[in-house]
Amino acid sequence: MIICFSGTGNTALCARELASFLDERVIMADSSMLRHPQRSSLSALPEDRRVIWAFPTYGWLIPPVMERLMRLITIDGAVQLPHYMLTTCGDDMGTLARGWRELMAERGWTAASAYAVRMPNTYVFLPGFNVDSAEVEREKLERCPASLEDIARRLKENIPGDVLIPGAMPGVKSGVLGPVFRKFYMRPGPFMHTAACTACGVCAGECPMENISMAKDGPVWGKECAFCLRCYHICPHHAVAYGRQTRGKGQYRACMKEVTRVR
Ligand SMILES: Cc1cc2nc3c(=O)[nH]c(=O)nc-3n(C[C@H](O)[C@H](O)[C@H](O)COP(=O)(O)O)c2cc1C
Repeated sequence: MIICFSGTGNTALCARELASFLDERVIMADSSMLRHPQRSSLSALPEDRRVIWAFPTYGWLIPPVMERLMRLITIDGAVQLPHYMLTTCGDDMGTLARGWRELMAERGWTAASAYAVRMPNTYVFLPGFNVDSAEVEREKLERCPASLEDIARRLKENIPGDVLIPGAMPGVKSGVLGPVFRKFYMRPGPFMHTAACTACGVCAGECPMENISMAKDGPVWGKECAFCLRCYHICPHHAVAYGRQTRGKGQYRACMKEVTRVR
């Protein structure tokens, strides 16, 4: 089984593609699993040969909502199965896989291999960060099926070893920059809507945490934010902003249909 969290669809696309190569089922982490991981439970079925945790890289670390889910969810039969990790990142993942292995050890689960696939970038909030150019986006999406086929082959043939994208100075990124990013820059406070907002409610309807409510003039963000940026990228009017930091920044929607309710 593949247990997947995805903000804007990249990881969902990869999880589904991998699942089709491996004949695995995909369980998408929904708002109830993400908000109440301690109340969530799954059971391994006889046909489940492995558990694959699939999630995007956030600040060279595991997304906090996924970390909580892995720490608190009950999975009957998880001890008997090997666990794997699949992350998608726009550029690089640092030493994220090390953190995942520590989490698996905490749970008494066997961490087998960790894999990473480079996908179009969705992080746009800090200065200097933006979505990829159309050409880079196309190249990444074109390369993704071959990467997943390779990962599927490794899994099928039980080939040990990781396929990672650590990038330069991975220890500094995950050990120093990541925790700072998580503490100071993953806050929902600056979310707002601009004058272009029509109060259509798409952002609220599609928030994976059900963290957005609608007031008369537009959305209002609560505190249970996964910081996945789905609200920003999915807005049909490009009317979701993060303070002034999103001025002039693009939206990314190529894989959005993988996570929206209406397919
Ligand atoms: C809050 C946030 C932080 C991110 N941090 C990183 C990062 O550290 N390294 C990276 O390469 N990409 C980073 N990204 C980009 C995503 O990991 C990447 O685009 C991923 O494929 C998105 O997956 P999704 O569409 O399943 O949500 C970040 C994206 C967000 C929203």
